[in-house]
Amino acid sequence: MCGIVGYIGHRDAFPIVIKGLQRLEYRGYDSAGIALFDGNSINLSKTKGKVEDLKKKSKEISVAGTLGIGHTRWATHGVPNDVNSHPHYSNSGDLVIIHNGIIENYESIKQALINRGYTFKSDTDTEVLINLIEEVQKTEGVKLGKAVQIALNQVVGAYAIAVFDKKKPDEIVVAKLGSPLAIGVGEDEFFIASDASPFIEFTNNAVYLEDEEMAIVRLGKEIKLRKIKNDAVAYPNILELQMNLEEIEKGGYDHFMLKEIYEQPRAIMDTYRGRLLADQGIIRMAGIDQNIEKFVNANRIIIVACGTSWHAGLVAEYIFEDLARIPVEVEYASEFRYRNPVITDKDVLIAISQSGETADTLAAIKLAKEKGAFVFGVCNVVGSSIARESDAGAYTHAGPEIGVASTKAFTTQITVLTLIALKLAKEKGEFSGSKFHEYLTELETIPAKVEKALKSNDLVETVAEVYKDSTNCLYLGRGYNFPVALEGALKLKEISYIHAEGYPAAEMKHGPIALIDEQMPVFVIATKKGHYEKVVSNIQEIKSRKGKIIAIVTEGDEQVKELADHVIEIPETLESLTPLLTTIPLQLLSYHIAVMRNCNVDQPRNLAKSVTVE
Ligand code: G6P
Repeated sequence: MCGIVGYIGHRDAFPIVIKGLQRLEYRGYDSAGIALFDGNSINLSKTKGKVEDLKKKSKEISVAGTLGIGHTRWATHGVPNDVNSHPHYSNSGDLVIIHNGIIENYESIKQALINRGYTFKSDTDTEVLINLIEEVQKTEGVKLGKAVQIALNQVVGAYAIAVFDKKKPDEIVVAKLGSPLAIGVGEDEFFIASDASPFIEFTNNAVYLEDEEMAIVRLGKEIKLRKIKNDAVAYPNILELQMNLEEIEKGGYDHFMLKEIYEQPRAIMDTYRGRLLADQGIIRMAGIDQNIEKFVNANRIIIVACGTSWHAGLVAEYIFEDLARIPVEVEYASEFRYRNPVITDKDVLIAISQSGETADTLAAIKLAKEKGAFVFGVCNVVGSSIARESDAGAYTHAGPEIGVASTKAFTTQITVLTLIALKLAKEKGEFSGSKFHEYLTELETIPAKVEKALKSNDLVETVAEVYKDSTNCLYLGRGYNFPVALEGALKLKEISYIHAEGYPAAEMKHGPIALIDEQMPVFVIATKKGHYEKVVSNIQEIKSRKGKIIAIVTEGDEQVKELADHVIEIPETLESLTPLLTTIPLQLLSYHIAVMRNCNVDQPRNLAKSVTVE
C-alpha cells in the first residue's frame, strides 16, 4: 500500500506534496515523510503518525525547493516509527527514494551491501534498494536512470518508486511493478503520484506507467518510458482525466464516508447512465456487447474479489444464477490464486475491485488469463491495473471513494453486475419482454428509493446510541440479503472496532444462537420479498432467547414491528434489488457508532484502502 507523491517544476514543492499526501492518506497512514531539494541541499523530514503531524514537524525546519517527494506509509517491513518512515537516503546522502511495495529479496541484497561496507539506519527493504542503486552507480559508473534500471533487474517484489539524485537537480526517476504510479504532465512541471488526486487541480493530463516500466522525468524534456527488463523505449499515452477537485473534497460533510453514503443515489444513477435505456428496452454495455458469446456460452462465471468487493460478488452470484441461469462461483482472490484452481477456456472470470489495484485480485486475473479464461473487470478507478489487465470490463463510475470503509463502491458494483445479469438473462431468453421491462424500470427507481432509505438517518442515529457500547453484534440475512449481512458486519468491525459477524439467518441455529442473551444486538434483514416468513421465525428464535432485535423491514411492515426492539424501514422493490436499499441503514449505523466511539471514521486503524501487497 502506501501513497507516493512527487513534484518537479517552478512552484514551491512543499504545499503540493503535503496536500497530495493528505489526499493519498487512504492508502496508509502509519507514518509520513517528505524530502525537498533546492538544487543545493536536501531537507528531509519524517515522522510516525499522519501527514498533519508531518506538516507540523516540517515547520521546524527550513522547507523550500522546487523538487519534492513524499510518502505516506502502511507499514510492511519495520514497525511504524520515524526511522522506518520514507523517504530514505543512500549512504552517501546523495540519493533519496520513496517506495510503495515490497522488495522480497532484500535480506540477501542487504547482506551483500553490508559486506561492501554499507550501513543501514532503518529496518526497511526500501533503504536496501536505494543503497543498491548507489552501489550500481559506483561500480558501473552509470547515471541515476541506468542505475535504477540495473538495480530493479536484481530485485524481486513490487514497487512504485521515485528517486532523485543531488547531482541531478532537474530530474526524478520513477518505476513501477505491481504498485500504481501516475505522472501528471503540466507546463514545465511534472507531478508523480499513486493516483491522480494529488495533481488534478494542476493538470488533467496524466500518464499511467505499465508494469515493468520506468521513466526519467526531466524538466524541459518530454517523458520517455523504458521497459525495465530490456530497455526498449515505450511511447507514453497521455490521458485526459475527467476527475474534478470537488469529487475529492468533503463538501461540507464531517467525513468522506458520510459524503460517500449520501452520494449513492447519484453514483448509482451514474453507473447506469447511458447503459440502461428502459424506454427502448435495452441495456447497452460495450464490454458485454462485444463479448456476448463468451458470456452466453460460458460453462460458469468465476467471481474473484476481496473485502467489500467480494460481498458484491456474493450478491452477484444470486443475481446471475437467479436471473441469467449461469452457474457462478465466488472466490476470495487470495485463496483462488494459491489453490491450483481448475480453470478452462470456457470460464469467464469477473474481477471486482474498487481500486483496481488489489494485489491478490490482480494475481488471480493473471492466473485465469494464463489458463485461457476470459477476464472481465468491474473497477471504479479508471485506468487502474485491473482495468488494464482485463480482456474487457465495465467501470462503476462511482467517482473517487476516499473513506477507507467502502460504501458507494459496493452499491455501484451491485448495479453494474445487475445490468450484466439482466442483459445476459435477456440474451439467453430467460426473460419475457415484460419481465425484462419490469426490471429495467424498477432499477431506474432505485436512486430515489436510496434517497428515501437515507431519510432513516436520524432513527439510525438513535439506534446507534443504544448499541454503541456493545462488544459483539450479529447480522443476519437470507438469500440476496445474506451478503448484505456480511457487509453490515464488516462495516461495523472496520470502523468502530466492535466484533461483529454476519450469518445466513437459518445458520444461526447451528452455532451463533449460543451467543444470544439479553446483551446481544442482532441486526436482521427481514424484507417482505425474500424468505420473509422464515426470517420472521428466526426473529422469534432470537426473541425467545432475549436477544435485542433491530430489523430492517419493508415500509409498512407490521408483523416484525411486533417482535423487534427497533425497526428501520426501506422502500419496497424487487427482491434482487433489495441489497441496494438494505445496505443503506447498515452503512449509516456503523458510521454513527464509529463517530460516537470517537473512532477515526475515514482512516480506521491498521487498514488501508488500496491493498497492493499480498
Ligand atoms: C481493502 C479495503 C476494503 C476493500 C478491499 C478490496 O481491504 O479496506 O474496503 O473492500 O481492500 O479492495 P478493492 O479495491 O479491490 O475493491
